[in-house]
Amino acid sequence: MKAALETHLEDLRRRAAAAPRIEDCFAAEPERLTRMTLEAGGLRADFSKQKLDLATWQALGRLADDAGLAAARTAMFSGEVINRTEQRPVLHVALRKPELAPNPAEVTDVLAQVERLVEAVHTGLRRGAHEAAFTDVVNIGIGGSHLGPQLACDALRDHATGLHAHFLANVDANEFKRVVEPLNPATTLFVIASKSFTTVETRLNATSARVWLTAKLGSDDAVARHFLAVTSKPERAIDFGLDASCIFPMWDWVGGRYSMWSAIGLPIALAGGMDVFRRLLDGAASMDAHFEAAETGVNLPVMLAMLGIWNTNFLGAESYAMVPYDDRLAYLPDYLQQLEMESNGKRVGLDNALLDHHSAPVTWGGLGTNAQHAFFQLLHQGTRLIPVDFVLALDHGDAYREHQDMLVANCLAQAAALMRGRRFESSASGDTGVDLARHRESPGDRPSTLLMMDKLTPETLGALIALYEHKTFVQSVVWNINAFDQWGVELGKVLAEDILQ
Ligand code: F6P
Repeated sequence: MKAALETHLEDLRRRAAAAPRIEDCFAAEPERLTRMTLEAGGLRADFSKQKLDLATWQALGRLADDAGLAAARTAMFSGEVINRTEQRPVLHVALRKPELAPNPAEVTDVLAQVERLVEAVHTGLRRGAHEAAFTDVVNIGIGGSHLGPQLACDALRDHATGLHAHFLANVDANEFKRVVEPLNPATTLFVIASKSFTTVETRLNATSARVWLTAKLGSDDAVARHFLAVTSKPERAIDFGLDASCIFPMWDWVGGRYSMWSAIGLPIALAGGMDVFRRLLDGAASMDAHFEAAETGVNLPVMLAMLGIWNTNFLGAESYAMVPYDDRLAYLPDYLQQLEMESNGKRVGLDNALLDHHSAPVTWGGLGTNAQHAFFQLLHQGTRLIPVDFVLALDHGDAYREHQDMLVANCLAQAAALMRGRRFESSASGDTGVDLARHRESPGDRPSTLLMMDKLTPETLGALIALYEHKTFVQSVVWNINAFDQWGVELGKVLAEDILQ
């Protein structure tokens, strides 16, 4: 962090050393729940079970302000070249508000191109080589060209009215066999999603899909009818054999892991319809507007970020667990792993010097309630401090009421149990030598955040993902790192190529 922040850091270190128990904060601060519950974009975050008092909460806000957050945010929204190592602006927010783009018409034109394609496929105007209507779409892409569309298609499954979406990412042929082979080639559309169009996994999978399709359909125009591409390098897609009209552009100012809002989101629109895709963009835009305008202390992404910094840099947490209590958000931990760890897993600052503090913790997690019967033991009684982000949609509709009540009750119970813990009076060990009380005891005082929404809709999903995007950005500002490059992934690619040769 910047030297100018040193007084803040010392103050926060002192506060961390003397941090009261969470339960004691509740007793001492009657207004805690109200002050530490923030709302935006249809989401409500209850931060009151984090391990800090209200004075520290305010001190974290001051740290964000003095780290230059306002200027950094303005720089991002106004299209300055904030990805300095790649000399690019960072404008995924322009995909939700086209007037922010270098050329707004480009953004609206591509959205219109997506809409025309979706319409043509859904109405049967665009058909396969054997004139059959499309029923399935396979997204061939990896990392940012996979995880966002996969998360959204699965999360919005209740809205699916169009094609069945499938995802082919790994170069492992077992995935190809599982995903592609059972499909009917005559009714399957492929989207090659690759910003660079050089990613070897994607290219090999696309080549194998082309071989599979042409072998089955035996028609010269099968590729033209069944393949689309989304890329910022259209010339490479043309070299691959695609017609220019089948290529959807994206731009250098959209980072791969921030790209699901661009035409990379095509599978979302093909599965759910254009209306669903637009509603997703609107939800993200409402979080953007909040992030731009809200004061630090009530700014949801900012305070989510600062609590992550508190846990990582002051309380010593090495990871945090993302635990959605919602089957539809099963891919959220995977998505956030790339977003947070590829963005902020860095060791050199913007001043080119090695960091003298930790950057991103490990993001991991899994679904509740399953996780309770797997890794929660460690969260309650292990030796490490692992904060948890719980995500919960309160209303799943009228069906299966009992399931929903039990799900919500379990989520709330876990947050309470982590905070409260449980004490047992030491018991005589008798002949066994076992003092069961010590083994049963949970220390409690383990922090969590509860993120709630009334319903999981395209809007609240968009807001949720944008929330974590902005959290990631805010943390990068305070850590003084570039969240938008990923040089660390290069070496492995080069070595794999050498070994392959
Ligand atoms: O290898 C990492 C990475 O470059 C990610 O940043 C990116 O999302 C992914 O690969 C896929 O890249 P592309 O869309 O260019 O195929």
